[in-house]
Amino acid sequence: MSEAVRTILQADSGGAKDLAREDAGFLWDFWYPAARGSAIRGNRLVTAMLLEVPLVLGRTLEGRAFAMRDSCPHRGIPLSYGHFDGTTVECSYHGWRFDACTARCVEIPSLTSQDKLKVERIFAGHYPCEERDGYVWVYMTSRDRKAVENAPGTRLPETVLAAPSLPVFSKKYKVTHLECELPSHVDQGIIGLMDPAHGPFVHQSWFWRSKHSIHEKRKQFEPIPYGFRMSPHSPSSNSAPYQLLKRITGEGVTTTIDFVLPNMRLEEIHSGKMWFSSRATVTPVRRDLCRIDFVAAWNLPFLPVSLFRMFGKTFLRQDQETMIRQAEGLKHDPKLMLIDDADRPAKWYFGLKASLLEARRSGVEMVHPLEAVVTLRWRS
Ligand code: FES
Ligand SMILES: [Fe+2]
Repeated sequence: MSEAVRTILQADSGGAKDLAREDAGFLWDFWYPAARGSAIRGNRLVTAMLLEVPLVLGRTLEGRAFAMRDSCPHRGIPLSYGHFDGTTVECSYHGWRFDACTARCVEIPSLTSQDKLKVERIFAGHYPCEERDGYVWVYMTSRDRKAVENAPGTRLPETVLAAPSLPVFSKKYKVTHLECELPSHVDQGIIGLMDPAHGPFVHQSWFWRSKHSIHEKRKQFEPIPYGFRMSPHSPSSNSAPYQLLKRITGEGVTTTIDFVLPNMRLEEIHSGKMWFSSRATVTPVRRDLCRIDFVAAWNLPFLPVSLFRMFGKTFLRQDQETMIRQAEGLKHDPKLMLIDDADRPAKWYFGLKASLLEARRSGVEMVHPLEAVVTLRWRS
């Protein structure tokens, strides 16, 4: 965590306890990236937090990643202080052992032959876990949330869709990952991610664009399940990298950008046989902290990973610095505005979220905030 993010959080931690019972505005029953797969090696137990749930992650001898609630169902000590032998996690307090893949208790050392306690009926909290694109994804189920907190919660919801995976378009390609933490609620992180109007002010760079290149844009959007798509179009003429791509392939460039609940922005750029594909997710850690995980893959021969990472880090740092400053302002609970058309994607995000929650509550089909194709206009 960067020093600045930590300072903001420390200064702001006063009221956190009182808020604990309020709804934090998280979307449950979705996959979220918990950690990089490469961070989970050998018998190491790794901690993570998603949607204010403490998790302990590990990898079995067979190489399968698992995620348990980082809390022993006996007395609540974090299981991550315990010992993992590649199959079972042993609690550091009284040595109860849990199978890593099912979280089922397999041994309570203090029991004698007289004891009737059915050890196998005891479970630690447990979450579905899958590895994709270099991340360990955890399905944050709300079902049995109470039960999970109190111990069991090993049952999977009936319909867990496959974890997301980044689209790629050739056998050979380069891939890289970046991340950054933001001292903000996930909603602020998400609307920042798809905000078209901050580019010329926050991301002024010689290699990207200058404040003076601002001009009017018209983009067409269409509804897709759980989200919306900026229809395939030729990308902004004031961005140098796109110009370069066009010159190299000698073909047109098309970009498609999707936003999909709960937190995902996907972008695909194609020009002839060349392609670039990226995904940014904004994951709620706590109600006052979220994390952007960015993965990109491409087959453009002129773009080395090191160069891309340099640009990518600059971009993320610019966003992060802005969000740190914004958090300073948001502490005073100001009234905020969403304006047309530049903030319309943000309105759609809030609309989608509300409509999903309503559909889940009432059991009726989700009403999409976008009825048909619309054109938005803004200057950026
Ligand atoms: S607290 Fe974990 S075994 Fe007792
Ligand atoms: Fe940005």
